[in-house]
Amino acid sequence: MEEATIAFPIGDQPRLAALELLRLVRDDGAYANLALPQVLRKYKLNGRDAAFTVELAYGVLRNQILYDAMAQNCSTRALVDVEPEVVDILRLGIHQIYAMRVPDHAAVDTCGSLARVTSRGKDASHVKARVGFVNAVLRCITRTEFDLDTLSLGNRYSHQDWIVSAFEEALERNGLASSELERLLIANNMAVDPVIAVREGEKDIPGTIPGRWSEQARILCDVIPLDVEQVRDGSAIVQDEGSQLVAQAFLLAQPTGAESAWLDMCAGPGGKAALISDSVPAGVEFIAVELHQHRVDLMSKIVGPAASLITGDARERPWGNRFFDRVLLDAPCSGLGALRRRPEARWRKTKRETLALTDLQEDLLLSAIDSTRIGGVIAYVTCSPYVQETWAVVESVLEARSNVQLEDARGLFPGVSDLGEGPYVQLWPHIHGTDAMFFALLRRV
Ligand SMILES: C[S@@+](CC[C@H](N)C(=O)[O-])C[C@H]1O[C@@H](n2cnc3c(N)ncnc32)[C@H](O)[C@@H]1O
Repeated sequence: MEEATIAFPIGDQPRLAALELLRLVRDDGAYANLALPQVLRKYKLNGRDAAFTVELAYGVLRNQILYDAMAQNCSTRALVDVEPEVVDILRLGIHQIYAMRVPDHAAVDTCGSLARVTSRGKDASHVKARVGFVNAVLRCITRTEFDLDTLSLGNRYSHQDWIVSAFEEALERNGLASSELERLLIANNMAVDPVIAVREGEKDIPGTIPGRWSEQARILCDVIPLDVEQVRDGSAIVQDEGSQLVAQAFLLAQPTGAESAWLDMCAGPGGKAALISDSVPAGVEFIAVELHQHRVDLMSKIVGPAASLITGDARERPWGNRFFDRVLLDAPCSGLGALRRRPEARWRKTKRETLALTDLQEDLLLSAIDSTRIGGVIAYVTCSPYVQETWAVVESVLEARSNVQLEDARGLFPGVSDLGEGPYVQLWPHIHGTDAMFFALLRRV
Protein backbone atom coordinates (compact mmCIF):
# COMPACT_ATOMS: atom_id res chain seq x y z
CA MET A 1 0.00 0.00 0.00
CA GLU A 2 1.20 3.45 -0.83
CA GLU A 3 1.78 5.63 2.25
CA ALA A 4 0.50 9.16 2.00
CA THR A 5 3.12 11.87 2.32
CA ILE A 6 1.75 14.50 4.64
CA ALA A 7 2.99 18.01 5.19
CA PHE A 8 1.68 20.00 8.15
CA PRO A 9 0.08 23.19 6.86
CA ILE A 10 1.68 26.42 7.87
CA GLY A 11 -0.64 28.79 9.65
CA ASP A 12 -3.32 26.49 10.98
CA GLN A 13 -1.79 25.78 14.32
CA PRO A 14 -4.87 27.06 16.24
CA ARG A 15 -7.10 24.34 14.74
CA LEU A 16 -4.49 21.63 15.28
CA ALA A 17 -4.15 22.81 18.87
CA ALA A 18 -7.93 22.68 19.38
CA LEU A 19 -8.02 19.15 17.99
CA GLU A 20 -5.22 18.10 20.32
CA LEU A 21 -7.00 19.59 23.32
CA LEU A 22 -10.13 17.62 22.42
CA ARG A 23 -8.04 14.44 22.20
CA LEU A 24 -6.46 15.05 25.61
CA VAL A 25 -9.91 15.53 27.14
CA ARG A 26 -11.32 12.45 25.38
CA ASP A 27 -8.46 9.96 25.71
CA ASP A 28 -6.50 11.13 28.73
CA GLY A 29 -9.38 12.41 30.85
CA ALA A 30 -7.69 15.84 30.92
CA TYR A 31 -9.42 18.93 32.27
CA ALA A 32 -9.56 21.37 29.37
CA ASN A 33 -8.60 24.39 31.47
CA LEU A 34 -5.56 22.60 32.93
CA ALA A 35 -4.38 21.06 29.63
CA LEU A 36 -4.86 24.29 27.70
CA PRO A 37 -1.65 26.13 28.73
CA GLN A 38 0.56 23.19 27.71
CA VAL A 39 -1.21 22.90 24.32
CA LEU A 40 -0.90 26.63 23.68
CA ARG A 41 2.79 26.46 24.54
CA LYS A 42 3.38 23.45 22.28
CA TYR A 43 1.81 25.23 19.30
CA LYS A 44 3.37 28.58 20.29
CA LEU A 45 0.00 30.32 20.35
CA ASN A 46 -0.90 33.56 22.02
CA GLY A 47 -3.18 36.55 21.54
CA ARG A 48 -5.90 36.09 18.96
CA ASP A 49 -4.67 32.67 17.83
CA ALA A 50 -4.86 31.36 21.39
CA ALA A 51 -8.35 32.85 21.78
CA PHE A 52 -9.43 31.16 18.54
CA THR A 53 -8.21 27.78 19.83
CA VAL A 54 -10.05 28.21 23.11
CA GLU A 55 -13.28 29.25 21.41
CA LEU A 56 -13.08 26.26 19.07
CA ALA A 57 -12.26 23.59 21.63
CA TYR A 58 -14.51 24.90 24.40
CA GLY A 59 -17.34 25.50 21.93
CA VAL A 60 -17.14 21.90 20.78
CA LEU A 61 -17.00 20.54 24.33
CA ARG A 62 -20.05 22.57 25.27
CA ASN A 63 -22.19 21.74 22.25
CA GLN A 64 -21.27 18.14 21.65
CA ILE A 65 -24.73 16.54 21.75
CA LEU A 66 -26.15 19.09 19.32
CA TYR A 67 -23.22 18.89 16.91
CA ASP A 68 -23.30 15.08 16.90
CA ALA A 69 -27.01 15.16 16.08
CA MET A 70 -26.30 17.54 13.18
CA ALA A 71 -23.38 15.45 11.93
CA GLN A 72 -25.41 12.25 12.16
CA ASN A 73 -28.14 13.86 10.12
CA CYS A 74 -25.62 14.48 7.33
CA SER A 75 -23.71 11.20 7.59
CA THR A 76 -24.36 7.94 5.78
CA ARG A 77 -22.36 6.12 8.49
CA ALA A 78 -23.38 5.76 12.12
CA LEU A 79 -21.24 8.28 14.01
CA VAL A 80 -20.37 5.68 16.67
CA ASP A 81 -18.50 3.74 13.96
CA VAL A 82 -16.46 6.76 12.85
CA GLU A 83 -12.92 7.30 14.21
CA PRO A 84 -13.19 9.57 17.29
CA GLU A 85 -10.66 11.99 15.83
CA VAL A 86 -12.73 12.40 12.68
CA VAL A 87 -15.83 13.03 14.80
CA ASP A 88 -13.88 15.75 16.61
CA ILE A 89 -12.94 17.31 13.26
CA LEU A 90 -16.60 17.32 12.23
CA ARG A 91 -17.54 18.99 15.53
CA LEU A 92 -14.85 21.63 15.00
CA GLY A 93 -16.21 22.29 11.52
CA ILE A 94 -19.80 22.55 12.71
CA HIS A 95 -18.83 24.95 15.48
CA GLN A 96 -17.08 27.21 12.97
CA ILE A 97 -20.08 27.10 10.62
CA TYR A 98 -22.75 27.57 13.27
CA ALA A 99 -21.24 29.59 16.06
CA MET A 100 -18.26 31.48 14.68
CA ARG A 101 -17.87 33.98 11.92
CA VAL A 102 -15.79 31.61 9.79
CA PRO A 103 -17.04 31.50 6.17
CA ASP A 104 -18.52 28.10 5.27
CA HIS A 105 -15.95 27.31 2.60
CA ALA A 106 -13.06 28.12 4.96
CA ALA A 107 -14.53 25.89 7.69
CA VAL A 108 -14.98 23.00 5.26
CA ASP A 109 -11.56 23.39 3.63
CA THR A 110 -9.64 23.72 6.87
CA CYS A 111 -11.37 20.68 8.36
CA GLY A 112 -10.53 18.70 5.20
CA SER A 113 -6.90 19.75 5.73
CA LEU A 114 -7.09 18.73 9.38
CA ALA A 115 -8.38 15.31 8.35
CA ARG A 116 -5.44 15.02 5.94
CA VAL A 117 -2.61 16.25 8.13
CA THR A 118 -3.66 14.15 11.07
CA SER A 119 -3.58 10.99 8.94
CA ARG A 120 0.16 10.47 9.21
CA GLY A 121 1.12 6.84 8.75
CA LYS A 122 -2.17 5.89 7.09
CA ASP A 123 -2.32 4.69 3.49
CA ALA A 124 -3.43 7.00 0.70
CA SER A 125 -6.86 5.42 0.16
CA HIS A 126 -7.63 5.74 3.86
CA VAL A 127 -6.60 9.39 3.84
CA LYS A 128 -8.73 10.06 0.78
CA ALA A 129 -11.77 8.41 2.34
CA ARG A 130 -11.24 10.33 5.59
CA VAL A 131 -10.96 13.70 3.86
CA GLY A 132 -13.86 12.89 1.52
CA PHE A 133 -16.09 11.96 4.45
CA VAL A 134 -15.31 15.18 6.36
CA ASN A 135 -15.88 17.30 3.26
CA ALA A 136 -19.16 15.57 2.41
CA VAL A 137 -20.62 15.84 5.90
CA LEU A 138 -19.61 19.47 6.36
CA ARG A 139 -20.85 20.52 2.92
CA CYS A 140 -24.18 18.92 3.77
CA ILE A 141 -24.17 20.85 7.08
CA THR A 142 -23.70 24.15 5.23
CA ARG A 143 -26.71 23.35 3.01
CA THR A 144 -29.06 22.10 5.73
CA GLU A 145 -31.53 24.18 7.75
CA PHE A 146 -31.75 22.49 11.15
CA ASP A 147 -34.99 22.96 13.04
CA LEU A 148 -33.63 23.15 16.57
CA ASP A 149 -37.13 23.61 17.99
CA THR A 150 -37.84 19.93 17.41
CA LEU A 151 -35.04 18.94 19.80
CA SER A 152 -35.39 18.45 23.56
CA LEU A 153 -33.72 21.14 25.69
CA GLY A 154 -31.02 18.62 26.65
CA ASN A 155 -30.17 17.95 23.01
CA ARG A 156 -30.45 21.54 21.88
CA TYR A 157 -28.19 22.86 24.61
CA SER A 158 -26.07 19.73 25.03
CA HIS A 159 -26.76 18.92 28.68
CA GLN A 160 -27.37 15.39 29.98
CA ASP A 161 -31.08 14.92 30.72
CA TRP A 162 -30.56 14.34 34.45
CA ILE A 163 -28.68 17.65 34.67
CA VAL A 164 -31.52 19.47 32.87
CA SER A 165 -33.96 17.94 35.39
CA ALA A 166 -31.68 18.92 38.29
CA PHE A 167 -31.64 22.55 37.11
CA GLU A 168 -35.38 22.53 36.55
CA GLU A 169 -36.03 21.36 40.09
CA ALA A 170 -33.53 23.85 41.56
CA LEU A 171 -35.10 26.78 39.71
CA GLU A 172 -38.55 25.75 40.87
CA ARG A 173 -37.41 25.31 44.47
CA ASN A 174 -35.97 28.83 44.34
CA GLY A 175 -39.29 30.23 43.14
CA LEU A 176 -38.10 30.89 39.58
CA ALA A 177 -40.32 30.36 36.53
CA SER A 178 -39.76 27.30 34.34
CA SER A 179 -38.98 29.66 31.44
CA GLU A 180 -35.70 30.43 33.25
CA LEU A 181 -34.45 26.94 32.44
CA GLU A 182 -33.64 27.72 28.82
CA ARG A 183 -31.87 30.94 29.82
CA LEU A 184 -29.77 29.00 32.30
CA LEU A 185 -28.78 26.36 29.74
CA ILE A 186 -27.86 29.11 27.27
CA ALA A 187 -25.75 30.85 29.95
CA ASN A 188 -23.91 27.58 30.60
CA ASN A 189 -22.95 27.50 26.93
CA MET A 190 -21.62 31.05 26.74
CA ALA A 191 -17.92 31.72 26.68
CA VAL A 192 -17.05 33.64 29.84
CA ASP A 193 -14.09 35.90 30.52
CA PRO A 194 -11.84 34.98 33.43
CA VAL A 195 -12.38 37.00 36.61
CA ILE A 196 -9.79 37.90 39.19
CA ALA A 197 -10.05 39.04 42.79
CA VAL A 198 -7.63 41.87 43.48
CA ARG A 199 -6.30 41.36 46.99
CA GLU A 200 -4.25 44.52 47.32
CA GLY A 201 -3.03 47.51 45.32
CA GLU A 202 -4.35 49.24 42.23
CA LYS A 203 -7.58 47.76 40.86
CA ASP A 204 -7.65 49.63 37.60
CA ILE A 205 -5.71 47.03 35.62
CA PRO A 206 -5.31 47.50 31.84
CA GLY A 207 -7.38 45.00 29.81
CA THR A 208 -9.89 44.52 32.64
CA ILE A 209 -13.23 46.01 33.65
CA PRO A 210 -14.88 46.06 37.09
CA GLY A 211 -16.95 43.07 38.16
CA ARG A 212 -20.69 43.32 38.62
CA TRP A 213 -20.97 42.76 42.38
CA SER A 214 -17.68 42.26 44.15
CA GLU A 215 -15.52 45.33 44.74
CA GLN A 216 -12.47 43.11 44.40
CA ALA A 217 -13.51 41.68 41.04
CA ARG A 218 -11.99 42.59 37.66
CA ILE A 219 -13.17 40.88 34.50
CA LEU A 220 -10.35 40.06 32.10
CA CYS A 221 -11.96 41.11 28.84
CA ASP A 222 -8.80 41.82 26.91
CA VAL A 223 -5.99 39.92 28.62
CA ILE A 224 -5.32 36.41 29.87
CA PRO A 225 -4.57 35.87 33.58
CA LEU A 226 -0.85 35.25 33.11
CA ASP A 227 -0.51 38.58 31.29
CA VAL A 228 -1.62 40.36 34.45
CA GLU A 229 1.29 41.30 36.67
CA GLN A 230 -0.85 41.19 39.80
CA VAL A 231 -1.76 37.56 39.06
CA ARG A 232 1.88 36.68 38.55
CA ASP A 233 2.97 38.31 41.80
CA GLY A 234 0.03 36.93 43.83
CA SER A 235 -1.68 40.23 44.64
CA ALA A 236 -4.64 38.99 42.55
CA ILE A 237 -6.04 35.47 42.10
CA VAL A 238 -8.27 33.98 39.42
CA GLN A 239 -11.66 33.53 41.08
CA ASP A 240 -15.25 33.64 39.89
CA GLU A 241 -17.26 36.51 41.32
CA GLY A 242 -19.65 34.07 43.00
CA SER A 243 -16.77 32.65 45.06
CA GLN A 244 -15.62 36.15 45.94
CA LEU A 245 -19.13 36.97 47.18
CA VAL A 246 -19.13 33.82 49.31
CA ALA A 247 -15.82 34.73 50.97
CA GLN A 248 -17.09 38.27 51.57
CA ALA A 249 -20.38 36.94 53.00
CA PHE A 250 -18.42 34.75 55.41
CA LEU A 251 -16.54 37.86 56.55
CA LEU A 252 -19.80 39.80 57.01
CA ALA A 253 -21.46 37.12 59.17
CA GLN A 254 -22.05 38.12 62.78
CA PRO A 255 -21.26 35.62 65.52
CA THR A 256 -22.40 36.85 68.93
CA GLY A 257 -19.67 37.95 71.35
CA ALA A 258 -15.91 38.25 70.97
CA GLU A 259 -14.07 36.14 68.42
CA SER A 260 -10.88 34.15 68.63
CA ALA A 261 -10.91 31.37 66.01
CA TRP A 262 -12.18 30.80 62.45
CA LEU A 263 -12.19 27.57 60.43
CA ASP A 264 -12.32 26.79 56.70
CA MET A 265 -13.02 23.03 56.68
CA CYS A 266 -12.58 22.14 53.01
CA ALA A 267 -10.23 24.84 51.94
CA GLY A 268 -8.13 23.57 49.02
CA PRO A 269 -7.03 24.88 46.57
CA GLY A 270 -7.51 27.93 48.75
CA GLY A 271 -9.32 30.63 46.76
CA LYS A 272 -11.76 31.58 49.50
CA ALA A 273 -9.22 30.94 52.27
CA ALA A 274 -6.90 33.42 50.54
CA LEU A 275 -9.49 36.22 50.62
CA ILE A 276 -10.47 35.37 54.19
CA SER A 277 -6.83 35.27 55.33
CA ASP A 278 -6.43 38.84 54.07
CA SER A 279 -9.11 40.04 56.52
CA VAL A 280 -8.56 38.00 59.67
CA PRO A 281 -8.60 40.47 62.60
CA ALA A 282 -5.61 40.62 64.93
CA GLY A 283 -5.97 38.10 67.74
CA VAL A 284 -8.13 35.72 65.71
CA GLU A 285 -6.66 32.40 64.61
CA PHE A 286 -7.66 31.12 61.16
CA ILE A 287 -7.30 27.41 60.41
CA ALA A 288 -7.71 26.05 56.88
CA VAL A 289 -8.15 22.28 56.52
CA GLU A 290 -7.93 20.21 53.35
CA LEU A 291 -7.96 16.45 52.76
CA HIS A 292 -5.47 16.26 49.89
CA GLN A 293 -1.84 17.22 50.38
CA HIS A 294 -1.42 18.46 46.79
CA ARG A 295 -4.31 20.86 47.35
CA VAL A 296 -2.79 22.01 50.63
CA ASP A 297 0.41 22.70 48.68
CA LEU A 298 -1.54 24.82 46.18
CA MET A 299 -3.24 26.63 49.02
CA SER A 300 0.06 27.37 50.78
CA LYS A 301 1.10 29.42 47.73
CA ILE A 302 -1.83 31.82 47.95
CA VAL A 303 -3.07 32.14 51.53
CA GLY A 304 -1.74 34.95 53.67
CA PRO A 305 0.39 34.45 56.79
CA ALA A 306 -2.71 34.68 59.02
CA ALA A 307 -3.77 31.14 58.04
CA SER A 308 -2.54 27.89 59.60
CA LEU A 309 -2.91 24.92 57.26
CA ILE A 310 -3.84 21.37 58.28
CA THR A 311 -3.94 18.34 56.01
CA GLY A 312 -6.68 16.02 57.19
CA ASP A 313 -10.22 14.70 56.98
CA ALA A 314 -12.57 17.36 58.33
CA ARG A 315 -15.04 14.65 59.43
CA GLU A 316 -12.44 13.55 61.97
CA ARG A 317 -11.89 17.08 63.25
CA PRO A 318 -8.10 17.21 62.89
CA TRP A 319 -8.20 20.55 64.76
CA GLY A 320 -8.96 18.65 67.98
CA ASN A 321 -11.48 19.68 70.61
CA ARG A 322 -11.52 23.32 69.67
CA PHE A 323 -14.56 25.46 68.99
CA PHE A 324 -14.79 28.18 66.36
CA ASP A 325 -16.70 31.44 66.01
CA ARG A 326 -17.10 31.02 62.25
CA VAL A 327 -16.88 27.90 60.13
CA LEU A 328 -16.88 27.82 56.34
CA LEU A 329 -17.86 24.49 54.81
CA ASP A 330 -17.35 24.88 51.06
CA ALA A 331 -18.32 21.29 50.51
CA PRO A 332 -17.03 18.90 47.85
CA CYS A 333 -19.89 18.81 45.37
CA SER A 334 -20.84 18.07 41.77
CA GLY A 335 -19.77 21.52 40.56
CA LEU A 336 -22.91 21.71 38.41
CA GLY A 337 -22.89 25.45 39.08
CA ALA A 338 -19.65 25.97 37.15
CA LEU A 339 -20.41 24.18 33.89
CA ARG A 340 -19.69 27.31 31.86
CA ARG A 341 -16.11 27.40 33.10
CA ARG A 342 -15.43 23.64 32.90
CA PRO A 343 -16.71 22.74 29.47
CA GLU A 344 -16.11 18.97 29.63
CA ALA A 345 -17.51 18.59 33.15
CA ARG A 346 -21.06 18.12 31.93
CA TRP A 347 -20.12 14.86 30.22
CA ARG A 348 -18.23 13.43 33.15
CA LYS A 349 -20.78 13.96 35.92
CA THR A 350 -23.11 11.11 36.72
CA LYS A 351 -26.20 11.32 38.85
CA ARG A 352 -25.07 8.32 40.87
CA GLU A 353 -21.66 9.85 41.77
CA THR A 354 -23.30 13.15 42.59
CA LEU A 355 -25.85 11.60 44.93
CA ALA A 356 -23.07 9.55 46.54
CA LEU A 357 -21.54 12.85 47.74
CA THR A 358 -24.53 13.79 49.86
CA ASP A 359 -23.57 11.51 52.78
CA LEU A 360 -20.14 13.14 52.87
CA GLN A 361 -21.71 16.61 52.72
CA GLU A 362 -24.01 15.78 55.65
CA ASP A 363 -21.18 14.31 57.73
CA LEU A 364 -19.04 17.37 57.09
CA LEU A 365 -21.86 19.70 58.08
CA LEU A 366 -22.44 17.75 61.30
CA SER A 367 -18.73 18.01 62.03
CA ALA A 368 -18.92 21.78 61.39
CA ILE A 369 -21.80 22.14 63.86
CA ASP A 370 -19.99 20.10 66.48
CA SER A 371 -16.98 22.42 66.29
CA THR A 372 -18.86 25.73 66.42
CA ARG A 373 -19.34 27.46 69.75
CA ILE A 374 -22.78 28.68 70.86
CA GLY A 375 -23.60 31.91 69.01
CA GLY A 376 -21.09 31.02 66.27
CA VAL A 377 -22.02 30.76 62.60
CA ILE A 378 -21.60 28.11 59.93
CA ALA A 379 -21.69 28.83 56.20
CA TYR A 380 -22.64 25.77 54.14
CA VAL A 381 -21.65 26.42 50.54
CA THR A 382 -21.71 24.48 47.28
CA CYS A 383 -20.84 25.35 43.73
CA SER A 384 -24.01 23.63 42.66
CA PRO A 385 -27.69 24.50 42.76
CA TYR A 386 -28.69 20.80 42.80
CA VAL A 387 -31.35 20.48 45.52
CA GLN A 388 -29.98 17.15 46.74
CA GLU A 389 -26.66 18.82 47.57
CA THR A 390 -28.09 22.07 48.92
CA TRP A 391 -31.51 22.28 50.56
CA ALA A 392 -31.75 18.54 51.19
CA VAL A 393 -28.40 18.39 53.02
CA VAL A 394 -29.17 21.39 55.21
CA GLU A 395 -32.68 20.23 56.00
CA SER A 396 -31.59 16.72 56.85
CA VAL A 397 -28.96 18.07 59.25
CA LEU A 398 -31.47 20.48 60.82
CA GLU A 399 -33.70 17.52 61.53
CA ALA A 400 -30.83 15.62 63.14
CA ARG A 401 -29.61 18.51 65.32
CA SER A 402 -31.70 20.77 67.52
CA ASN A 403 -28.71 22.92 68.57
CA VAL A 404 -28.54 24.79 65.30
CA GLN A 405 -30.89 27.15 63.49
CA LEU A 406 -31.17 28.42 59.96
CA GLU A 407 -30.86 32.18 59.35
CA ASP A 408 -31.55 34.38 56.36
CA ALA A 409 -28.29 34.67 54.43
CA ARG A 410 -29.41 37.39 52.02
CA GLY A 411 -28.16 40.24 54.23
CA LEU A 412 -24.61 38.93 53.76
CA PHE A 413 -24.82 39.74 50.03
CA PRO A 414 -25.38 43.51 50.12
CA GLY A 415 -26.09 45.10 46.77
CA VAL A 416 -26.73 41.78 45.03
CA SER A 417 -30.16 41.81 43.40
CA ASP A 418 -32.65 39.00 42.71
CA LEU A 419 -31.85 36.94 45.79
CA GLY A 420 -35.36 35.52 46.03
CA GLU A 421 -37.22 34.89 49.24
CA GLY A 422 -34.41 33.39 51.32
CA PRO A 423 -33.33 32.08 53.73
CA TYR A 424 -30.86 30.53 51.32
CA VAL A 425 -28.89 32.47 48.76
CA GLN A 426 -28.66 30.88 45.33
CA LEU A 427 -26.66 32.71 42.67
CA TRP A 428 -27.23 31.93 38.99
CA PRO A 429 -25.12 32.33 35.84
CA HIS A 430 -28.07 33.67 33.81
CA ILE A 431 -29.22 36.12 36.51
CA HIS A 432 -26.09 37.19 38.37
CA GLY A 433 -23.41 36.34 35.80
CA THR A 434 -21.63 34.20 38.42
CA ASP A 435 -21.22 30.49 38.97
CA ALA A 436 -24.31 29.02 40.64
CA MET A 437 -23.06 29.20 44.24
CA PHE A 438 -25.37 28.14 47.06
CA PHE A 439 -25.01 29.63 50.56
CA ALA A 440 -26.85 28.63 53.74
CA LEU A 441 -26.23 30.38 57.07
CA LEU A 442 -26.61 28.36 60.27
CA ARG A 443 -26.12 29.45 63.87
CA ARG A 444 -25.23 27.28 66.86
CA VAL A 445 -27.77 27.86 69.62
C1 LIG B 1 -15.35 22.87 46.72
S1 LIG B 1 -13.71 22.47 47.08
C2 LIG B 1 -13.22 23.82 48.09
C3 LIG B 1 -12.79 25.02 47.30
C4 LIG B 1 -12.12 26.04 48.17
N1 LIG B 1 -12.94 26.48 49.27
C5 LIG B 1 -11.68 27.26 47.37
O1 LIG B 1 -12.33 28.29 47.42
O2 LIG B 1 -10.66 27.17 46.68
C6 LIG B 1 -13.90 21.19 48.24
C7 LIG B 1 -12.57 20.71 48.81
O3 LIG B 1 -12.86 19.78 49.85
C8 LIG B 1 -11.84 18.82 49.88
N2 LIG B 1 -12.34 17.68 50.67
C9 LIG B 1 -13.08 16.63 50.25
N3 LIG B 1 -13.36 15.82 51.27
C10 LIG B 1 -12.81 16.38 52.37
C11 LIG B 1 -12.76 16.00 53.73
N4 LIG B 1 -13.34 14.88 54.17
N5 LIG B 1 -12.08 16.79 54.59
C12 LIG B 1 -11.46 17.92 54.17
N6 LIG B 1 -11.48 18.32 52.88
C13 LIG B 1 -12.15 17.56 51.99
C14 LIG B 1 -11.60 18.56 48.43
O4 LIG B 1 -10.34 17.96 48.23
C15 LIG B 1 -11.69 19.96 47.84
O5 LIG B 1 -10.44 20.54 47.77
